[in-house]
Amino acid sequence: MANPSAAVDSASPSANSMWGGRFAVGPDEAMERINASIDFDRRFYREDIAASRAHAAMLVAQGIVSVGDGDAIRRGLEQVLQEIESGDFAFSAALEDIHMNVEARLAELIGAAAGRLHTARSRNDQVATDFRLWLRGALDALDGQLRDLQAALIGQAEAEAATVMPGYTHLQAAQPVTFGHHMLAYVEMLGRDRGRLSDCRARVNESPLGAAALAGTSFPIDRQATAAALGFDRPLANSLDAVSARDFAIEFLAAGSILAVHLSRLAEELVLWCSQGFAFVTLSDAFTTGSSIMPQKKNPDAAELVRGKAGRVIGALTTLLVVMKGLPMTYGKDMQEDKEPVFEAVDTLSLCLLAMTGMLRDLKADPAAMAKACGSGFLTATDLADWLVRAVGMPFREAHHVTGRLVKLAEEKKVGLADLSLAEMQAADGRITDDVFSVLTVERAVASRMSFGGTAPERVREAATLARERFL
Ligand code: ARG
Repeated sequence: MANPSAAVDSASPSANSMWGGRFAVGPDEAMERINASIDFDRRFYREDIAASRAHAAMLVAQGIVSVGDGDAIRRGLEQVLQEIESGDFAFSAALEDIHMNVEARLAELIGAAAGRLHTARSRNDQVATDFRLWLRGALDALDGQLRDLQAALIGQAEAEAATVMPGYTHLQAAQPVTFGHHMLAYVEMLGRDRGRLSDCRARVNESPLGAAALAGTSFPIDRQATAAALGFDRPLANSLDAVSARDFAIEFLAAGSILAVHLSRLAEELVLWCSQGFAFVTLSDAFTTGSSIMPQKKNPDAAELVRGKAGRVIGALTTLLVVMKGLPMTYGKDMQEDKEPVFEAVDTLSLCLLAMTGMLRDLKADPAAMAKACGSGFLTATDLADWLVRAVGMPFREAHHVTGRLVKLAEEKKVGLADLSLAEMQAADGRITDDVFSVLTVERAVASRMSFGGTAPERVREAATLARERFL
């Protein structure tokens, strides 16, 4: 592992060793500080070195650099990598960024041959290449974490496929559903999140390398070869676009923001469900905290933080959209501001997924509490109306009306619909028979919702099996 917090040495007053040819004096201290990105873009060190290796190998294959110099560059880069990974590398703010830090150290190690590495290349195509490689890896890791969360949700869905709970609209109890069905709703959302990230990956995975500063190069390079060596699908077709496009990062942040919103909705439900008013679930000790003053408390801090951290990801999207808005082609230093929002979003999403997966894996549903919550709120009113349509042949609108009158009566008597007498039912409509009581239990209500995508336990079990095939 690299040592990202190693001190940055910033003591050089002389002109920059990499580009200082026309400069008489070095930068002001504030200039150096505002200009340097090494504190954050050092996260690209692996990708930067991999891209340099691919570039150097191509330069040799094309006869642009000698085999001997190519060997020296390859061995030197290998050593730089080892130094960074072992924490022995002295990062320098005077050298601005990861690209020049690596190249300057290479020059110390192998001498003049290092200067040949930058042939037919610029930091503009370099940084775009590193960024795309890094984001590709991050996308793959996030996909694995999303899959883990889906697995935890599917596990709960299978265990609680027949556990009846109130389903809500307007956060008002609406119709009975099963807890398993509710879990699988999130599996679908996260499945689309994976789809969006995978679509984004396809656009991330194109190579800017060889676009050079902006216009391409007069050297006979082979962009197909470097693209293939780095696992890109193809080289980007236009050199100006290659160095200046950041929509791949914006697209990630947009898809990431949607994911963050989904996670925050689930987090909010956990917060509600473990509150005393609901008490539908218990979160494990491992994902809750106590209060220093109220001994009875078990607070869902992890869920609250997942809910709150969505703000960071959405903020990162806004940041990069504003950075890029109105930028003329091609590269502008503004674009150095592209990395931190993406790092912030990746780190935040990764941690939220980890915490959410742990919470869902450990979560204990309380079927008795959920069943009790189904007892109030006339959850089977729709089933009564549907029965009137089926058994009596009433138009649904009329059935809705008759049911409404019976709900009002039950409300006045402070009883459930099933507790009304047949005589009371028949007072609302003489055609009602004893058979109506068979549809008024919540178990019957969920079992009857056999339509595709519906909440019947049988359907939920099928859907969970299918979800395993589709997503795991
Ligand atoms: N550190 C720079 C960035 O992050 C690298 C590219 C610099 N290019 C340049 N022409 N100064 O964007």
